Amino acid sequence: MIIAVDGPAASGKGTLATGLARHYGLPHLDTGLLYRAVGLAVGEREDGPEFERAAIAAARALDAAHLSDIEALTSAETGVLASRVAVIAEVRAALFAFQRDFATQPSGAVLDGRDIGTKICPDADVKLFIQADSKARMERRAKQLEQRGVLVDRYALYHQIEERDARDMLNPHGGFYKADDAHLLDTTLLDIEAALRAAIEIVDRTMALK
Ligand code: DC
Repeated sequence: MIIAVDGPAASGKGTLATGLARHYGLPHLDTGLLYRAVGLAVGEREDGPEFERAAIAAARALDAAHLSDIEALTSAETGVLASRVAVIAEVRAALFAFQRDFATQPSGAVLDGRDIGTKICPDADVKLFIQADSKARMERRAKQLEQRGVLVDRYALYHQIEERDARDMLNPHGGFYKADDAHLLDTTLLDIEAALRAAIEIVDRTMALK
């Protein structure tokens, strides 16, 4: 069984994908980490040919199976860099095979990202599209960061999330839209347990109809 989980920044898709993987005993790939690793390797530079060249080289050289320094990868700044490298077609192409291979291993898999249901696994057994309003997403991300002892500027975080949403959704190579056959799950008013229960119900219902 392949489960595709897509959604915007801080929608809870990663937590849901982790919970689904545990529930069904499937391996899980957070595809955002691949773009984050490329962004982190490139570092802060202005947009332009130099940035593009460095991003493409980093994507081609990435050892996707052994990502390290997860703490630096999950920072909000790295998220912004990730969304900038993600608009480069050659970067997406370089990361495609690893994601596709992960999805098609015999055990099945859960993948989460932006384009799983549309581009990486258009043939997934179950597709979920997770949604939550941007204020709720900002608040969740703020709490996550605060738990790690990071001092959070909520105003800046909100704008960072909006900026990433805009770039991700306008990404001409991204495929970031709800696939026609994806199930929409709005988690604005749900806590983690309730959201996971709802997701499991969708998966079970979909699989029962197969
Ligand atoms: O899910 P995330 O916040 O870790 O993703 C970081 C960035 O990577 C996101 O802003 C867009 C990009 N991304 C993408 O374009 N396609 C994916 N499948 C996953 C992430």
